[in-house]
Amino acid sequence: MSSVEQMRKPGIEQPSDLTTERLTEPSGGGDKPVRLKRKDILGLQEMTPEEIELILRMSLSFKEILGRQIKKVPTLRGRTVLTLFYEPSTRTRTSFEMAARIMSADTASIAASGSSVVKGESFKDTILTLRAMKPDVFVIRHAASGAPHFAASLVPESVINAGDGMHEHPSQGLLDMLTILESKGRLDGLTVAIVGDILHSRVARSNMWGLTKMGAKVRFVGPKTLIPPESALAGLPIEVYTTLAEGIEGADVVNVLRIQLERMQSGLFPSLREYSMLFGITKERLKAAKDDVIVMHPGPMNRGVEITPDVADSEVSMVTNQVTNGVAVRMALLYLLLGGGGDAAA
Ligand code: CP
Repeated sequence: MSSVEQMRKPGIEQPSDLTTERLTEPSGGGDKPVRLKRKDILGLQEMTPEEIELILRMSLSFKEILGRQIKKVPTLRGRTVLTLFYEPSTRTRTSFEMAARIMSADTASIAASGSSVVKGESFKDTILTLRAMKPDVFVIRHAASGAPHFAASLVPESVINAGDGMHEHPSQGLLDMLTILESKGRLDGLTVAIVGDILHSRVARSNMWGLTKMGAKVRFVGPKTLIPPESALAGLPIEVYTTLAEGIEGADVVNVLRIQLERMQSGLFPSLREYSMLFGITKERLKAAKDDVIVMHPGPMNRGVEITPDVADSEVSMVTNQVTNGVAVRMALLYLLLGGGGDAAA
């Protein structure tokens, strides 16, 4: 069985001793280009702990560039990054574009709503048409789970999944891990409670795969109607809680998911007010978690629904750190797929 197949098996395959100290040690790679041994980034389910560690190491190295006055390195000069978004986005799309530009790559940005998709052009024809313009990497968000995988099967260029339906959002999972690592110094042994609409959340899935591979314990916390059925969770490396107090008790990290207002119609919970009363994260309720708990949210936030403004804006909130880390992680992904020579951050 290949290492990729092994990692598809649920559970933690190998414990990780990943710490921020280890990540900032020199890798010993010298001037050799560092690349991922895969064409595409489609999910964290199929990624090995070594690949995740490499991405996080490179992200920390690239983050240093974001602190400079002149945020520009020549690393990807002459390469073209194409973003193709079939769903709205503020953070993911902008940070991929900023990441590309900081590394001197050219960018082209297509929103399905402003493209020939509205005239009926198929996804396949759209991908093949754009490919004919010779981009080096496609960054794709789509409401259909598996759309980036289909695109990856059509083109020899790299494809990065920027969120596909209810499946995965790998760069979000990676930036969440980087944020936890920076705050806690490690991932191994931490308890991460993911609270909210797990059923529809690609963020929850990518966090689950990434965090458990690195040795963290993951809890899914939410009302029964927003948690996948037992049959779908069988064998997955998580614990399920349907009450907030139990779900966040002793947690090191509380990752709050957006209540997808568009789901309200489907009657999965009676009202926003009721959801907020039972599962909204307040300062009072956070007392059940560890004293040094951090709170994360992938955004966009519904303030006053899944999280109160005083928590969202408090010192325990990592929301803006997550956004900054999103740029660093996406720089690392582009670099590791497209490859560069020499010192990546020079
Ligand atoms: N977290 C996230 O994916 O945000 P956007 O939808 O704004 O990209």
